[in-house]
Amino acid sequence: MEGVIDAHTRDLLTRQPGFDWTVTEFVRVVDARLPPRVFYKHCPELRGPAMTTPSGVPVHLQLLGSAPEALAANAVQALTLGTTSIDLNFGCPAKLVNRHDGGASLLRDPRRVHAAVAAVNEAVGHAIPVTAKMRLGFADRRLALACALAAEAGGARQLVVHARTRNEGYRPPAHWEWIGRIRARLSIPVVANGDIWSLEDYWRARTLSGCRDVMIGRGALADPWLAPRIRHWQRTGERLPPTPWAARAETLQRFASLQRSTLPERVVASLIKQWLNHMRARDPEAARRFEALKRIKDLDALLAGLAAPEGSTAAAAEA
Ligand SMILES: Cc1cc2nc3c(=O)[nH]c(=O)nc-3n(C[C@H](O)[C@H](O)[C@H](O)COP(=O)(O)O)c2cc1C
Repeated sequence: MEGVIDAHTRDLLTRQPGFDWTVTEFVRVVDARLPPRVFYKHCPELRGPAMTTPSGVPVHLQLLGSAPEALAANAVQALTLGTTSIDLNFGCPAKLVNRHDGGASLLRDPRRVHAAVAAVNEAVGHAIPVTAKMRLGFADRRLALACALAAEAGGARQLVVHARTRNEGYRPPAHWEWIGRIRARLSIPVVANGDIWSLEDYWRARTLSGCRDVMIGRGALADPWLAPRIRHWQRTGERLPPTPWAARAETLQRFASLQRSTLPERVVASLIKQWLNHMRARDPEAARRFEALKRIKDLDALLAGLAAPEGSTAAAAEA
């Protein structure tokens, strides 16, 4: 997820069991072939012995663009650098991206989805899997199935469907039953995505979509134990207890240690607050900490505020 889930976050989130694979933030392709440094920045895992997080979870490299030739050239570049898969983004709703004809704007014409997927497949010589991620449409859902079929016909080996149109943004509800309509017509695996925040959401999304697998985005930031919670239930039929504040604080502390090795402290402080902001909608203690700490710019003071025992945040913030 762009601006939110970088290699350090992927590393932290995959230390617990639950994730089968992860995806990079999108690499934006306009026309030219991008230099290797752009790929390494988005996907430092390319430098490792395998395209995985340190815990061994595969990382898929995502491209976002509209011109088939440019996507193809950059897919070849990524392959040369060692990627083991390419994911194509047909879901991004950002105005800037859509104005430049990328992301979800391609969903207005299934032929363009097909052309992009086919060009990338052809360029990498079918040597690595090419997958796709889409929304249900741009303004409405009329072309949802046609776009999904186009991705499959272009050679996509898997399709993730975020169960909303571009114009629906992130507004609930996610229309998981629409993913079911697509899944029923495709032969490739279809993965359900959108608004899975809890084990109950996971059950509902699976039931309504009929999909075996789901993708979680914001839910994994809101509760870093959501994927382990789902995996634990799958394996044992039992529920894990709610994630305590101490575990959340420890994740944020580890995140800070990883980020401060490469980024200025004030940037790390804002990244911590960004993650805490994702946690606060689903956890009252995270909400209290966010309110108490949101104006703190000094990283050490912020970390002290996160580590303070419950009930003493305000004191830590003033210190
Ligand atoms: C801040 C932000 C950045 C995102 N960046 C990407 C991205 O780079 N590539 C992508 O395929 N989806 C991206 N998404 C969409 C998510 O992958 C996901 O489809 C969407 O948030 C719905 O799933 P969720 O409810 O589990 O978060 C982004 C979403 C957010 C909120």
